[in-house]
Formats: sequence, structure tokens, C-alpha cells
Amino acid sequence: MKIGILTSGGDCPGLNAVIRGAVLNGVISHEAEFVGFRNGWRGVVEGEFSPLHRHDVRGLSKQGGTILGSSRTNPFEGEGGGPENIQRMLDENGIDAIIAIGGEGTLTAARRLTDAGLKIVGVPKTIDNDLAATDYSFGFDTAVEIATEAIDRLRTTAESHGRCMVVEVMGRHVGWIALHSGMAGGAHAILIPEQPTNIEQICEWVESVRDRGRAPLVVVAEGFHLDDMEEAHSHKGLDAFNRPRLGGIAERLAPMIEARTGIESRDTVLGHIQRGGAPSAYDRVLATRLGMAAIDAVYDGAWGSMVTLRGTDIRTVSIAEAVGRLNTVPQSRYDEAKILFG
Ligand code: F6P
Repeated sequence: MKIGILTSGGDCPGLNAVIRGAVLNGVISHEAEFVGFRNGWRGVVEGEFSPLHRHDVRGLSKQGGTILGSSRTNPFEGEGGGPENIQRMLDENGIDAIIAIGGEGTLTAARRLTDAGLKIVGVPKTIDNDLAATDYSFGFDTAVEIATEAIDRLRTTAESHGRCMVVEVMGRHVGWIALHSGMAGGAHAILIPEQPTNIEQICEWVESVRDRGRAPLVVVAEGFHLDDMEEAHSHKGLDAFNRPRLGGIAERLAPMIEARTGIESRDTVLGHIQRGGAPSAYDRVLATRLGMAAIDAVYDGAWGSMVTLRGTDIRTVSIAEAVGRLNTVPQSRYDEAKILFG
């Protein structure tokens, strides 16, 4: 069989480990051949790909980013887009199946293409851990590790100056990175999109930390908003490129905290640092297992399925189960962390 692999959407530590796991399992167990599509669905729509041999994936599991490149191209748009054009391109080049590694957008497109008859298997990818139907996704552990290290570093400078630090981590729709890095780093408040909070409550937590002679540390997910409606809307809107404005919440919170509590406050935005560099050992193993399992799903003809982590097992579910709903932080996990606030 000749299998095409693509990585699509925002990159994520572990993408290369998935590619390596898939190619090695495919070559060793099935004598499969591989091609890598350039820049996600764009490579599929434009027919841009190159052979992917065993030697191309050597030593790849520790490498950040993706050797195939990525984009946010929609495979239903553009000249070569749509199921008929894509199937024609695959037939002309003898490509039997596609492994699509991506998040919500990528998998939704994969599902629609499978419904139209294309042979696709999905692999979930998101550092935010917001995809349903998988307990964890690779990249998340690495992001939490990076954010925790940053929090540890911010704590020592905060303590030296008796300042309040507000750290913004990624998490567009869900607060998993904030919850885990905040718990690991001993944050005094963790603010997540699932739990709008008012500024008075945040300042109460901050002041109680100061009253114990400590420097308050607040971890906030980029998608968090205050439950005060005016503030909730004031940071929304579109940026200069007409994209929904994200982040900037730490920059707004720090002066609000300082004005209300009198505690000198600083903000830090970790941004794409959380997505760069080498994956953690956990993510390398998870990504490798998912890549290997994707090959098994291809040889089982499980089109429209996605490989997933359930407990410690790798399973196969329908992509339909994974898209259209978010893996949000449950109330119980937030309540548990909240005991440690203030
Ligand atoms: O979805 C993953 C994510 O890292 C979000 O946490 C973040 O909001 C977004 O991607 C950033 O996307 P981009 O790299 O396109 O700016």
C-alpha cells in the first residue's frame, strides 16, 4: 500500500514522532510505501508531496515541529480542492490512503472527505488538550512542562520583589494547560475559560497570599474572560488581519490587580514557546504509539476512524465522536484545584 501522511493546523511537539511511528510500523510490518504531503491539506490540494523513506524518519521522535510543514488550508477550497479532485490526484499517483494528523479543523475536514468516499485515518493533535474522545493528546505534556518551568522561574523573581505575577498560557477554548501547570507550579489562582470569575474574587485570592507574606502567582489561560460582561467583551473583536483577537488577558489583568490591591504586578505571556522545541518523553511515546496504531487502522480499512488514548490503551474511534464538542475541564477538577487558591 502507498500511504500519504499530512500534518495540518498549528504545530505541536510530537508530530515528527507520529510520522516516524507510522513509517516504521508501515515499512517493518507491511512493507508499505509512504509519501509526505507538504504543508497539510495544501499539499493534497496542490498535489505537492515527496517520498518518505525509513531513513527520512531516523532520529525524528525527539525533533520539534513537523518535517512536512503545516498550514490551515481547507481541502474543500481552491482549484484542486474537494473530494473528486483529491481522489483523482490520489489515483493518478497511486496513493491508497491518507493519515491526517491534526486538530478539530483537520479532523472535521477528514470526516467530510471520508463521507465522500476517501480513505482517511485521523490522528488527534492539540497542545490545548481540547479534543474529545481522547484522554490526552501529545504535545500537551510538553506544553505543561514548559509552562511549569516558566512559573517556577517567575516565582523566584516575584518573591524577590514582593510582586504579583500574572502568567498567560495557551488555551483558546479550554484551560487544561493552565490547570495542570498552575497545579504543578503551585499557583495561587488558576483562571480558565470554563470558569469565568470576577476581578473582586481574583483580588481576594491575591490579597490573602500577600497577607501571608508571599508573592501571589496567577496563571491565566488565553481564552479566560472575567464574568463582568463589559470586560468580557472589551478584549474580543478582530485583529489587524481580521482574525478573532486572542490572548492579552494577562496584560489587562495585571494593572487591574495592581490598581485594586496596591500590589505591584507584572504580566508574562508564554505564547508559542509552549509549542516549540523537543517533545517530552511522555509525548514521544504517546505520539509514536498513535502513529503505529494509525497504520493498523489503515490495514484494517477503518476509514473515518481516529486513533485515541483511553486510559493507557490506544484505541480506534470514529472521527465523528471526536469533532464538534470540546474536551473541557470538568467542574470537579477545577474545584479540586481551587482548594489550593489564595
Ligand atoms: O490550538 C492551539 C493553539 O496553540 C492555541 O492555544 C492558540 O490560541 C493557537 O493555537 C495559536 O495559533 P497560531 O499559531 O495560528 O497563532
